[in-house]
Amino acid sequence: MEHANTCGRDQAKVGIRIAGTGKYLPETTVTNEDFTRFVETSDEWITTRTGISSRPVETRLFSWEMGVRAAEEAIRRSGIPKEQIGLVIATTVSPDYLTPSMSCLAANGLGLSAPACFDVNCACAGFVQAVDMAEKYLSSGAFETVLIISSEMMSKVVNYQDRSTCVLFGDGAGAAVLQRGSGIYTSEMGSDPAGGGGVFMRGIPPSSFFRPKEEPFDPLSDGWPVTQGFELYQNGREVYKFATRALPTAVRAACAKAGIEPAELSMIFPHQANARIIETAAKNLGLPMERFFLNIADHGNLSSACIPIELREAEEAGLLHRGDRICLVGFGGGLVYAGCVLEW
Ligand code: ACO
Repeated sequence: MEHANTCGRDQAKVGIRIAGTGKYLPETTVTNEDFTRFVETSDEWITTRTGISSRPVETRLFSWEMGVRAAEEAIRRSGIPKEQIGLVIATTVSPDYLTPSMSCLAANGLGLSAPACFDVNCACAGFVQAVDMAEKYLSSGAFETVLIISSEMMSKVVNYQDRSTCVLFGDGAGAAVLQRGSGIYTSEMGSDPAGGGGVFMRGIPPSSFFRPKEEPFDPLSDGWPVTQGFELYQNGREVYKFATRALPTAVRAACAKAGIEPAELSMIFPHQANARIIETAAKNLGLPMERFFLNIADHGNLSSACIPIELREAEEAGLLHRGDRICLVGFGGGLVYAGCVLEW
């Protein structure tokens, strides 16, 4: 990567244990066919270019409330009393407020007493970035139990007049409870900050409810393409090029630090931006597609919520076993990427 900024840390000796995972997916789904009402598109184009057939869209809850639903499941499955949670990290690029943070809103909603709370804005790499931060806090002894909540309401930030972005995203939340573990843990992070104009949003919208935008906002331009107020802009081709390089780079580097080959991973949990990006990365790494968890067909791109939801669904499908060596890898706005290798 031209602007790679690798975290040159030694392999951590302590590791983490993901004690419980949870997810919340809205019941309402929007199909590719539904989008033909807003924009000139087709099921055939969306399916073949992205792998997406439908995506969940939230119509009642706020982002932080979706996060609470996912966190309740993660805490329940962990078997750890919620009073033991010392730190809550929320990841989102679609918060309800700039302040209070989503982590504070969710901690209050969960009835936690007084945990440390902060949010991470690392776009679609947010969950992996939060796992890495949690590992640092856990291995240093600063906290015993960390709750990560990744919740995204992408349906409120896309531009329903832009067919190249509005069809890609959905809404959902994932969560994980982490404690210190004994297996390997390594990570690799980097960025291409000069590529920031490839995906951007200027602010957050005033409403959490899914609706086609009624009035265009005044166009603003500061050198990047003009967008209508807060909506997400993406230069798909540029981000595609970045993603197809970043994904294998992060996997390889995190594996190298762990002293293993990518082929020794039992499963890779990639950010779900486009099935073709994952297929390209699989070829690049010389791994079969079956090694990559894929749920984009009926989820779409849920930004930072993708990976924790994947972990929950892999557990539900019996694909994860204690001791498995897995890799989580995200990439997105910034542009940034983050990968980590851990033992389940
Ligand atoms: N329906 C029909 N045609 C479409 C649609 C659509 N929904 N969207 C775009 N097209 C058209 C374009 O207008 C273009 O037409 P033209 O050739 O007449 O100009 C043609 O299809 C090809 O457009 P491309 O943008 O080149 O299409 P591409 O194959 O690159 O697919 C996509 C676009 C899906 C966005 C792809 O580039 C991609 O997945 N990019 C990476 C996204 C990503 O990884 N994002 C990072 C995370 S997001 C975050 O951080 C918040």
